[in-house]
Amino acid sequence: MNKVIRKEFFSENVVCLEIEAPRIAKARRAGHFVIVRVDKNGERIPLTISSSDLNKGTITLVIQRVGVTSRKLTELEPGDTIADMVGPLGQATDVKKVGTVLACGGGVGVAPLLPIVEANKKAGNKVISILAARTKELIILEEQIREFSDEVIIMTDDGSYGEKGLVTEGMEKVIARENIDEAVIIGPAIMMKFAAEVTRKYQIPSIASLNTIMVDGTGMCGACRVTVDGKTKFVCVDGPEFDAHKVDFDEMLMRLNGYKDFEKDADERYRKMHQ
Ligand code: FAD
Ligand code: FES
Ligand code: MG
Repeated sequence: MNKVIRKEFFSENVVCLEIEAPRIAKARRAGHFVIVRVDKNGERIPLTISSSDLNKGTITLVIQRVGVTSRKLTELEPGDTIADMVGPLGQATDVKKVGTVLACGGGVGVAPLLPIVEANKKAGNKVISILAARTKELIILEEQIREFSDEVIIMTDDGSYGEKGLVTEGMEKVIARENIDEAVIIGPAIMMKFAAEVTRKYQIPSIASLNTIMVDGTGMCGACRVTVDGKTKFVCVDGPEFDAHKVDFDEMLMRLNGYKDFEKDADERYRKMHQ
């Protein structure tokens, strides 16, 4: 059991939880995630470790409410406990001093992007971040990303905040005026697919952090299977970061949509029961 010691709302649907987990706090590196089971009947979901505090023995998770399990997590209060948490999982981000890094985050992809932006800045890189979402309310962690970025560009589909347009339009503008040495792309699969096409066009080495469905997080169940460079990979143990130009995003999109109807039903039932 892991105790929640602090809760902060970053927006109506995005919550930051600080959770006691001394051993995970000690071992985690940027790019690592945990698999959380909120209660004893709960499903297991992966969440990126946003930061850690070695003195307090805590980690922070930033959770966007999108369905039943993330809803249950965002309803926890300080003093409540999480049934279990496994981690740190995945391969840590390979951060080097490369020059200028373009960090692109879409929607809740900004949560996993934050520790990577921080690590890149600390490695001595110039970091230009683009945060993109459908509308103003869905732009998250802007202040935290600003802390570790030389420049932050906000893109919204409806123009309600920052510039109107898609992440790819923001990327094109930055690439036109800056010499970008590496790009990091994290967001919905469809966004990563098109963002990777932009950097492919300009031959910019690019990393994508994949958000496939996960169950065990140990490479055994196969839920997170993806094809990278024609080979089968498991995002939980081989990733979550891969060469964005080699990921088969069409296959990933098809697999992600496989449970949509079940997820929608479960969320509707949970909301009716708790109204
Ligand atoms: P549901 O209604 O069940 O599902 C909504 C959508 O979430 C699905 O369509 C699917 O795309 C995805 N999803 C559902 N179940 C799983 C599952 N078991 N594993 C992975 N994805 C699933 N979200 C955050 O808010 N913050 C993070 O820091 C974060 N980090 C992640 C790191 C990794 C490595 C991965 C793979 C995912 C991460 N996610 C993060 C996404 C998060 O796991 C999903 O939003 C969550 O599982 C949704 O569960 P749900 O029951 O609330 O929603
Ligand atoms: Fe089961 Fe990756 S989550 S193999
Ligand atoms: Mg779910």
